[in-house]
Amino acid sequence: MIDDQKYRAAAAAMAEVTSGMRLGLGTGSTAKHFVDLIGRAVGDGLEVLCVPTSSGTEAHARSLGIPLTDLDATPELDLTVDGADEVGPGLTLIKGGGAALVREKIVAAASKRMIVIADASKRVATLGRYPLPIEVNHFGLGATAAAIGVVMADFNAKGGLRRRLGSDGTPLVTDGGHAILDAFFGRIPRPEALAKALIDIPGVVEHGLFIGLCKRAYVAGPEGVDVLDG
Ligand code: A5P
Repeated sequence: MIDDQKYRAAAAAMAEVTSGMRLGLGTGSTAKHFVDLIGRAVGDGLEVLCVPTSSGTEAHARSLGIPLTDLDATPELDLTVDGADEVGPGLTLIKGGGAALVREKIVAAASKRMIVIADASKRVATLGRYPLPIEVNHFGLGATAAAIGVVMADFNAKGGLRRRLGSDGTPLVTDGGHAILDAFFGRIPRPEALAKALIDIPGVVEHGLFIGLCKRAYVAGPEGVDVLDG
């Protein structure tokens, strides 16, 4: 059911893809549907050049024969299509549940247009129920975590900070070689202010608040696909 909604959101976003485009390919189970659809379309003659947002998406896209490049060779993209963990007011987002937030944010920022595909469970009135992923350098991790804790207290976080583990139970290491701390806020009524406070902490590589990047969201529910414009 949810997976069907993810597929329908991805299929709706295909309407934005035209031959000749340079595309950013997102990460996660919803973006995977989009990559599958792009792979099928490439097989049918669609000409696109794509930048993946994670090593996982890269391997998947490669297996489908999708032509790939990177932001060194192709610094500007036409469109990026990605999933999200939460879609809040004004198309503010929480991303990084798949630990790809740094590459996802770089690729989104390098794109003329970034759109999100999601099932209806991702839509929220206030961000923060989903733990906010924060990517941090391994060096000084304890001090960085303490500084994040101070910011969390300033922003009335309802929960704590937890180091993300991988599927094997050991601390997760991102594609960029960093750690992820998940911050349990409960509610983030002022995402812009929080984003600034977090990125100002030395040791924070990036956080999962995406503000002003997403221009449209295709949100699929049981009744159909809603198109939200920012
Ligand atoms: C990856 O780091 C994330 O930002 C994903 O885009 C996000 O977690 C959504 O994933 P699903 O589509 O699997 O819910």
